[in-house]
Amino acid sequence: MSEAPVLEVSGLVKHFPVARGVLRRKLVGVVRAVEDVSFEIKRGETLALVGESGCGKSTTGRLVLRLMNPTSGSIRFKGEEIAGFDRDAMRRMRRHLQIIFQDPYASLNPRMTVGDILSEPLNVHEIGDAASRAARVRELLGVVGLQAEHAARYPHQFSGGQRQRIGIARALAANPDLIVCDEPVSALDVSIQAQIVNLLQNLQQRFGLSYLFIAHDLAVVKHISDRVAVMYLGKLVEVADKRTIYARPLHPYTQALMAAIPKTDPNLRTKRVMLQGDVPNPFNPPTGCRFHTRCPHAQARCSVEEPTLREAASGHRVACHFFETLPPPVIVARSGPPKGKFAERLAAFEAAKQKNAAPIVIARDPSPPKGAAKA
Ligand SMILES: Nc1ncnc2c1ncn2[C@@H]1O[C@H](COP(=O)(O)OP(=O)(O)OP(=O)(O)O)[C@@H](O)[C@H]1O
Ligand code: SF4
Ligand SMILES: [Mg+2]
Repeated sequence: MSEAPVLEVSGLVKHFPVARGVLRRKLVGVVRAVEDVSFEIKRGETLALVGESGCGKSTTGRLVLRLMNPTSGSIRFKGEEIAGFDRDAMRRMRRHLQIIFQDPYASLNPRMTVGDILSEPLNVHEIGDAASRAARVRELLGVVGLQAEHAARYPHQFSGGQRQRIGIARALAANPDLIVCDEPVSALDVSIQAQIVNLLQNLQQRFGLSYLFIAHDLAVVKHISDRVAVMYLGKLVEVADKRTIYARPLHPYTQALMAAIPKTDPNLRTKRVMLQGDVPNPFNPPTGCRFHTRCPHAQARCSVEEPTLREAASGHRVACHFFETLPPPVIVARSGPPKGKFAERLAAFEAAKQKNAAPIVIARDPSPPKGAAKA
């Protein structure tokens, strides 16, 4: 893994204007979806972006790809500032930055064959001639575990997992450096999730890809990520390598997320930190620390002064005034049977990884739709 970041995001901001009124639309404020977000991703690295629904994960991913314009901030891709790129410049750059969506069916044109879907990026970026594009489509299908004859079929003829493989092949078509994976397995059956996650890891090793992996599922994140960035109401509250953040989360919000995971040791569990109330509205976020309305450790200073991301250790940054003095999460002996889902899912990912050490073999989804392709 080379040290130079593929992506450096600094002070990224996205405000969505909110207008009210029927006849005369009047600007009444902004939704502060992304506020002063900074992170970097190295070549071959996976940074997971986690947090509750509506905290700004997808908006961050779309900003990085310049699918929308940032309000302010810097996005450097392979050393080049792309935040101010116009449409034409971005069209040329886009082959290097791709996205995989949660719902591959919605993102695949139902009227196009798989072959046309996969050759579209090659046509758009004028890569190769007709013969080499056809060869590339066959190659891509093989790389994601599908077969050459699938090129003539339509998206509805495939199962969910197979459609996600098509989405991945399309993202790979123009040889990107960075892929934003926006909840790429949340819509899939658990056993298929493990296959797709391991396919993504396999492709990363093979092609040196960098991933911004957006997810709310901490089992998937624990398996796939190198580092984790935790987002709350548009802001990053903690960034650390995976091992550190799962073993020693320092921000009260990360601690609450982690405490919700059943421990692999059935005799231990972290005392559940109950988050009070709902996530506040990003239209009118709380003053000071945005988490203070739900934080069990909030003090007077928290509602008036916003904490900045500070280094707790090398590569571990936390946005909390008091993280140095907060009590560590309480580990208590548990009674009753363990809730084993998290551990079981991790084991399923590991098992799929062992299988995938051999060449990728496509497994059948449990319930392919009517007329689905035999794989
Ligand atoms: N085009 C838009 N116009 C106005 N507000 C928007 C727009 N897109 C997103 N938002 C708002 O920005 C905030 C962040 O949304 P975003 O989709 O990035 O969240 P998320 O973390 O991806 O959530 P989820 O986990 O549900 O996918 C939300 O409050 C959302 O309502
Ligand atoms: S700054 Fe205060 S409210 Fe925010 S996380 Fe830390 S203790 Fe909680
Ligand atoms: Mg989202």
